[in-house]
Amino acid sequence: MSLMVPGSVAVIPGAIQRYRNRDTEHLFRQDSDFYYLTGFSEPDAVLVLAPERSHGEVILFCRERNARAELYNGERVGPERAAEKLGVDDGFPINDIEEILPGMLEGRERIYITLGAYPDFDKRLMQWVSAIRAREAGGAIPPGEFHALKHLLHEQRLVKSALELKAMREAARITSMAHERAMRCARPGMTETQLEAELVHEFMTNGAHTPAYPSIVGSGANACVLHYVDNASVLKKNDLVLIDAGCEYQHYAADVTRTFPVSGRFSKSQQALYEIVLEANRAGIDSCRPGATFSDPHVAAVSVMVQGLLDLKLLQGELTEILETDAYREFCPHNSSHWLGSDVHDVGDYRVDGAWRELEPGMVLTVEPGIYIRDDASTGALAPRWRGIGIRVEDDVAITSEGHEVLSHAAKDVSDIQQLMAEGASL
Ligand code: GLY
Ligand code: MN
Ligand code: MN
Repeated sequence: MSLMVPGSVAVIPGAIQRYRNRDTEHLFRQDSDFYYLTGFSEPDAVLVLAPERSHGEVILFCRERNARAELYNGERVGPERAAEKLGVDDGFPINDIEEILPGMLEGRERIYITLGAYPDFDKRLMQWVSAIRAREAGGAIPPGEFHALKHLLHEQRLVKSALELKAMREAARITSMAHERAMRCARPGMTETQLEAELVHEFMTNGAHTPAYPSIVGSGANACVLHYVDNASVLKKNDLVLIDAGCEYQHYAADVTRTFPVSGRFSKSQQALYEIVLEANRAGIDSCRPGATFSDPHVAAVSVMVQGLLDLKLLQGELTEILETDAYREFCPHNSSHWLGSDVHDVGDYRVDGAWRELEPGMVLTVEPGIYIRDDASTGALAPRWRGIGIRVEDDVAITSEGHEVLSHAAKDVSDIQQLMAEGASL
């Protein structure tokens, strides 16, 4: 609230309950902005920040208690207990928002809100503002400005507190165990779905109820489909399998990718490509430090990958020229990092005044270089042994005052992976 301009109000709606079919709901997941400010995970809620409002500045609208509804769906906090349980100043029934919220907007020059996130709510908000405007001749002062909440809130979310880092460390720890479990359990003849089940088992037994995003388990050429989630193919002995999966723990995400051979042993060509991606991952991580820019890990990773592809003669030409012309994009089509936090692709600007943002302690990003050689890769001279291979190695990295802390520790050296898999095969 201290960042808001005088005479303003912020309105932050919670997520809405969505249905997967008829009366069956998707598992509810609270809106990350709303949760960051409240820690409140019930649907049908709106938070209002009204600095200098004499009856309370932090106001929560939420569902009233209801014995019948609570019989089916569990206990509600209810407006009467909101102050005591959540530390807000005041609680009101969500069903009364129509009567109460317009009064909180009246006389405030600016409304901070994320427009577009909840269009139905936006529409109602506009109607309330219009209603105030209609009374302007009678002295009512309608808000004149809508301002993106993100300029204030997402800057805060971008820099994680000690408590948030603790949750992220745990999310990454559980996720790393899940990846190693998958390495131990993988066998030719299994389906990708069965391997996914091993990940989910590890997430849930360790207190993470859901993945932070749909798990990608892609064997063979499926690994070249960047967001492959069918996970329906059978694992073949000579294929690699790429797993991009992370759990959500206490509302914070991990996002980790490992790639390993179904048989437990990398072939020569698989290992050659894998070592390049691993070296790129390490080079990217090494460049994570305060004062470096967001793009530095990507630049470092891509240089390593292009040099590696040149050494293997999978690319021809001169390093700097290839980097400048994007000629490597067929094999390395995506960027190597994004912010990580409550959302897997977390909030926060990547550029400031047009320039890549400087990394600061408390920021968390992924480093995830990848090489993908599709079956139909256009480079004609490619021998078949290179085709249908997708490799990504993704870690979660927190910037610290000294440099960085890697949060994810799943095995990634060739020898460590092969050893884990050999142990798993003997079980
Ligand atoms: N799992 C999506 C990503 O790595 O960004
Ligand atoms: Mn990922
Ligand atoms: Mn990622």
